[in-house]
Amino acid sequence: MSQQRHYSPLDQVLIQADAALRTLLPFTGHTTRPSPAKLKDETLLSDQESRHVAGLMRINHTGEVCAQGLYQGQALTARLPHVRQAMEHAADEEIDHLAWCEQRIRELGSRPSLLNPIFYGLSFGIGATAGLISDRVSLGFVAATEDQVCKHLDHHLSQIPVTDEKSRAILEQMRVDEAQHSTTALNAGGLRFPAPVKMGMSLLSKVMTFSTYRI
Ligand SMILES: [Fe+2]
Ligand SMILES: [Fe+2]
Repeated sequence: MSQQRHYSPLDQVLIQADAALRTLLPFTGHTTRPSPAKLKDETLLSDQESRHVAGLMRINHTGEVCAQGLYQGQALTARLPHVRQAMEHAADEEIDHLAWCEQRIRELGSRPSLLNPIFYGLSFGIGATAGLISDRVSLGFVAATEDQVCKHLDHHLSQIPVTDEKSRAILEQMRVDEAQHSTTALNAGGLRFPAPVKMGMSLLSKVMTFSTYRI
């Protein structure tokens, strides 16, 4: 089904603005699945534990903001004739992740990062630029980003107290989804980036994690 609507430049601007606002304003994304945390009981965490988990969930939330920026930028410039639907499905799942993380951060008594607009803009630029270069580069970026996210999730899962079943349930489902997104992008022809590019990306992600854990 490759039914493609044609949008005017003004439509495009409005669609992008709508997506950006839905990403950056609290509780505005439409989720397709309920949060996995719903099925788990709340646990009593110490103040220190709560702050630490909230910091980790804030990093994950900003990661999802970046994913939104990347996918929206890609949707604007990449052609993706055969995989557009699959990539849109992945972008929908990212909206679920975004909402689940935000809800959990609030439950832990904190708030998402104030730096999110900056990271959204950066990721949007990367997604749009990669899409302009080629679909293979664009999909390669998605795959490399998702691999990076999986590493973060594994690291965070090893740090979150075992008693915090709500946070863990969210991250575990995200881990499954992100690995699938990476596979989808690679199967669709995404480039496997060489080590130096991946190192550059992980450096950027270190800046993101260091700053959003705190701000
Ligand atoms: Fe995600
Ligand atoms: Fe993903």
